[in-house]
Amino acid sequence: MAERQGNSGASVGRASRRSFFKLLAGSPLLAMAYPALPPNWPQAVAREARHRAAAGPRPAGVPCPDCGTEMVFAPSAGAGRNAAQETGAAEQDRNRFLEGQLTGQVIESPDEAINVWDMEATTHSGNLPEHWAYLHLGVDDFETRKANREGFQRLMIRPRRLSGDVSGLDTSVELFGRRWDSPLFLCPVAALQAFHTEGEVGCARAAGARGTLVMQSHASSQAYEEIAEANGEPHWFQLYAVPDWNVNKRVLDRVSAAGCPAVVWTIDLLGGSNRELARRSLGIDRYDQPFCQNCHQHEPGYARPMRRDVGGPAGPRVPYTWDYVKRLKDATTMKVIVKGIVTREEAELAVEHGADGVFVSNHGGRAENSLRSTIDSLPEVVAGVRGRVPVFIDSGVRRGTDIFKALALGADAVGIGRPYVWGLGAFGDRGVDKVIDLLLDEFRMTMRQTRTSAIDQIRSEFVMERRSPIMMRGNRLGFGL
Ligand SMILES: Cc1cc2nc3c(=O)[nH]c(=O)nc-3n(C[C@H](O)[C@H](O)[C@H](O)COP(=O)(O)O)c2cc1C
Repeated sequence: MAERQGNSGASVGRASRRSFFKLLAGSPLLAMAYPALPPNWPQAVAREARHRAAAGPRPAGVPCPDCGTEMVFAPSAGAGRNAAQETGAAEQDRNRFLEGQLTGQVIESPDEAINVWDMEATTHSGNLPEHWAYLHLGVDDFETRKANREGFQRLMIRPRRLSGDVSGLDTSVELFGRRWDSPLFLCPVAALQAFHTEGEVGCARAAGARGTLVMQSHASSQAYEEIAEANGEPHWFQLYAVPDWNVNKRVLDRVSAAGCPAVVWTIDLLGGSNRELARRSLGIDRYDQPFCQNCHQHEPGYARPMRRDVGGPAGPRVPYTWDYVKRLKDATTMKVIVKGIVTREEAELAVEHGADGVFVSNHGGRAENSLRSTIDSLPEVVAGVRGRVPVFIDSGVRRGTDIFKALALGADAVGIGRPYVWGLGAFGDRGVDKVIDLLLDEFRMTMRQTRTSAIDQIRSEFVMERRSPIMMRGNRLGFGL
């Protein structure tokens, strides 16, 4: 378990914890002598090491003109700088600080997070470069990842001022007879223990406590049963079908027996995806390096938990066509949602072949490089579905306003992938909790600004398209997407 938020002695605990990590940062080998370190100790030590490297004499603060309290730290003064250089350095510091508003800042506790990008910067600062690359990557030159954000930025909101009563907001939505606290859900993301030892279990614990729907990846680090236990109820399961039908059937039977109400079949990677950052970051040794072997393929026949124990008589190798949806439906009593639909024609076909839900997704810009955002695809998919089944959407959702815009254009539920993983990587379940909290706070504010008090009041009249994109500040690391 990662460190949990303390109560009365919290600040003392935090201070002594920090000084302990400072000590380790000075002598990392000391860590070997402490077997009971929290799982995120390498991050904490790395952070302290950075502080040490950056530390000069503590800069003098700018005093409040009224009470004299130090308010803002002055930029670090460099010996021998002239006044113009000082001003330049001050300007640079200020710009770096302001850029943090758009690209996130490294923070020490979830309470410090102002938006989801603070979690991104924090996870980036402590994660293994290879794992970070896996999370961050987009296909080709990242254009579809970028398009996902630009799609939301092209939509403007038309607020209302005095109509309607927003004294009580109801953000709840019903999906397949189960009411959720909000339309926000956690998308299936593979291998979550690559970002924090709490993994899927930590995410499910945080989401369950907030009445938030969880979809587990087929390629998860932990097993369905333990995740469901942490969640407090069986959650949804995402399937990557393999050619042998019997293998798929065994997985479906396993999660169904554990009470899983819905299976999400992901179809947007069937054609492959060009993930250059992953290839670069893994280098020529790929997973064979000793460090990677701790988790990847470390024993003969190693398989992720949901791919284990699926041996048995081989089944037919069924081609992936629309008939496959019917095949899945016939094989299980679980609801079947098809993930990766981006066109009207395919939305029609999915419903015609029995899908219980249509999921608009481009895998967060990790599948094809279509350059088309999911929010751009949403209206035509909604038109193809014609209200017959619920419509889900993800990819590029980073703000409460994004949730609002997707609902306004006809989505029934809105998913996040990377943002909750940033929260997990930064602070375990507390980080995931904070990400959900931040997004829903922003979302509720948007509802108040548009005087909508329930989800079904959020309609297309509240959004309109802008012609010219808003120019966002660029940044070297490609953060803020
Ligand atoms: C690191 C990573 C792993 C993912 N693994 C899966 C997966 O196993 N199954 C799946 O259906 N989608 C997977 N996705 C896609 C997400 O479910 C979701 O579509 C996407 O993350 C949404 O975009 P966003 O990250 O911009 O919010 C993954 C995404 C990321 C970032």
